[in-house]
Amino acid sequence: MGYKIAIDGPAGAGKSTIAKMIAEKLDFIYVDTGAMYRAVAYFFIHNGIENLDGANVKLMCAQMDIRISYEEGNQNVILNGKNVTGYLRSEEVGKMASIVAVNREIREKLIDLQRYISGEEDVVMDGRDIGTQVLPDAQLKIYLTASIDVRARRRFEELEEKGVSANIEDIKADIETRDKNDMNREIAPLCQAEDAILVDTSEMTIDEVVAKIISLYKGNCS
Ligand code: CDP
Repeated sequence: MGYKIAIDGPAGAGKSTIAKMIAEKLDFIYVDTGAMYRAVAYFFIHNGIENLDGANVKLMCAQMDIRISYEEGNQNVILNGKNVTGYLRSEEVGKMASIVAVNREIREKLIDLQRYISGEEDVVMDGRDIGTQVLPDAQLKIYLTASIDVRARRRFEELEEKGVSANIEDIKADIETRDKNDMNREIAPLCQAEDAILVDTSEMTIDEVVAKIISLYKGNCS
């Protein structure tokens, strides 16, 4: 079945940076499931769809063809034939992703895609429900977190690096709202799987976190 590493946790904990580096080091495939929810959000924003009731979301769901391709280890999301990867990391899209992610049809559609990509491969997959729902048999499950202040600062720096001006207090409020949505929704809420290992990255560098997870993996394999 391949070796599966599941990394879950709240916004700004560093999941995607860490997961990507681990995948590179171990020569695993990196699957960013947040980008898939973000692609659905982009579809709603781009098409000006404001009606978010269940029936309409279901209808829209049927109009979205979402595929994943890889280019030098980087994941691309193809939405109805268009590569939308470059449009997905804004705060607007992140907020909308958390709103559409409560919908059952959307989750089922994306979970099918996530399991299909994972298949027999060795993968590192990050998201909110990977250890609990998508890959419950993953051999290594990590719950990555950090204090709200550290997470807000990281997101602020990510935006600044891209030349997007942002206010750290607004980002903190957005992250808090999104965490609340993600942790309290009815279907597949964000929570630590019983067999997941908690890694608090508040006081750790990226390299330290990567080294810790790789050593957990090696310990598991020996
Ligand atoms: O990078 P960041 O942690 O800010 O967000 P992301 O991983 O790109 O996910 C964006 C949003 O998609 C989250 O706030 C969740 O609401 C949703 N999501 C989800 O419900 N399940 C997943 N497996 C991944 C993301």
